[in-house]
Amino acid sequence: MREWTIELMTDRDQIDEVLAIEELSFTNPWTREMYLAEFENHGVSFCYLARDNARRVVGFCSVWKVVDELHINNLAVAPADRRGGAASALLRRVLAEGASAGANRATLEVRRSNDAARNLYERFGFRVAGVRRAYYTKPVEDAIVLWRYPLTDLAA
Ligand SMILES: CC(C)(COP(=O)(O)OP(=O)(O)OC[C@H]1O[C@@H](n2cnc3c(N)ncnc32)[C@H](O)[C@@H]1OP(=O)(O)O)[C@@H](O)C(=O)NCCC(=O)NCCS
Repeated sequence: MREWTIELMTDRDQIDEVLAIEELSFTNPWTREMYLAEFENHGVSFCYLARDNARRVVGFCSVWKVVDELHINNLAVAPADRRGGAASALLRRVLAEGASAGANRATLEVRRSNDAARNLYERFGFRVAGVRRAYYTKPVEDAIVLWRYPLTDLAA
């Protein structure tokens, strides 16, 4: 397993590196404007970056913390760096810091056909709670709604 450094995004200049991975990972990538708006949403929206030993950003996870709930909005790793544990390192940090900050449950949506992500989330204890029919576009597909609770076992 490779080594990754997980850090919070601290500067809007880092959005470019996130956008490059977004575009390689999603058919409907978030835009710069969306990430700028997230960056201004202090205290609610957090974006974590995974860096390799050369300090290159290889992955990210953006999350909202609202009261006692974490909503994972986006998680992606650059194709060349997948299967090396970067997404796991990101999720571990996001869930542990969220739990330490008082969150006791986490949720997200994932495409029904996204076996890679569904396996990853299952490993982290997320369980299927429901389906949002035709939630995604490009292509149209159901979203599987996952929840993980409590998070107390993860607090740092
Ligand atoms: C899903 C994604 C973030 C996983 O990132 P990653 O860094 O490769 O994940 P990890 O290396 O931490 O994998 C951890 C576990 O997840 C599962 N997993 C990851 N990729 C998988 C794949 N292609 N097929 C099956 N299982 C997979 C495995 O259980 C894996 O453990 P293992 O490698 O010991 O078998 C990455 O594939 C990605 O960016 N996909 C495109 C964007 C996306 O779909 N994001 C999720 C949106 S909800």
